Amino acid sequence: MHVWSVANQKGGVGKTTTVVTVAGLLAEVGYRVLLVDLDPHGSLTSYFGYDPDELEHSVYDLFATKHKINREGVERLLLKSSHDRIDLIPASTAMATLERKAIGEEGMGLQVAKALAQVRDSYDYVLIDSPPVLGVLMVNALAACQHLLVPVQTEFLALKGLERMVRTISMINRARSKSKKLSFTIIPTFYDRRTQASVSSLRELHNKYPNEISNAVIPVDTKFRNASIRGLVPSVMDSSSRGVHSYARLLRSLLERQKQEVL
Ligand SMILES: Nc1ncnc2c1ncn2[C@@H]1O[C@H](COP(=O)(O)OP(=O)(O)OP(=O)(O)O)[C@@H](O)[C@H]1O
Ligand SMILES: [Mg+2]
Repeated sequence: MHVWSVANQKGGVGKTTTVVTVAGLLAEVGYRVLLVDLDPHGSLTSYFGYDPDELEHSVYDLFATKHKINREGVERLLLKSSHDRIDLIPASTAMATLERKAIGEEGMGLQVAKALAQVRDSYDYVLIDSPPVLGVLMVNALAACQHLLVPVQTEFLALKGLERMVRTISMINRARSKSKKLSFTIIPTFYDRRTQASVSSLRELHNKYPNEISNAVIPVDTKFRNASIRGLVPSVMDSSSRGVHSYARLLRSLLERQKQEVL
């Protein structure tokens, strides 16, 4: 089971869209995929038609429980998505209170990793959507994954948010052993080659992060929004769209790299 987290300490950069689109493409080639919504806003949860205000069970349970996390407890959280090879562990709005509660509590940074270990045999890939704030939920997302995807909007000031994220990754890596350092891929999003802001920020990303930047650049594509309104993964809604093509290219390069190292 491979676990990839999608994170950036900036909102609205395409995190949830990246999770849903990559998941759809993995499912299409036959992989069993689990999505985990660690954002208290619950956009990923809402995407598949669930209301984060009304769910009885969610990621919150992993933090609230005094008992040890077991398989039964994790299976209770699983919901179906609109795709039969994709399941979801949803977010609930109660998770917003976790940032305050869990701070300073021993071991709270590994709750999600422990939960995923319980369902290791049921899925090929896990994709984790994380909130744009550095707190216990993001720490869980970073601790549970082997590889991190960082969508970055190609616009002025894009690098500012990214620098914060890169500092967070370095902090996490100081605590990890040499063989388990967290690697990351920067995904330029909302690219519009007609605008100077897109062109120059992409160039800047290449200059500053030549080894981490993905060759696949995600263009502005209104079909992502249309797919989200219908609750479908973008590749099911329209497999020929430019945006889906770009994510497919990204995925091919990730799978290629995975052959050489553990992602
Ligand atoms: N490449 C794109 N082209 C056009 N629209 C996009 C693209 N990617 C995402 N969107 C749309 O932009 C909005 C924000 O995207 P998304 O929800 O994926 O960002 P996010 O980083 O998860 O945001 P948040 O920080 O609020 O969770 C959504 O309405 C989505 O449909
Ligand atoms: Mg989101």
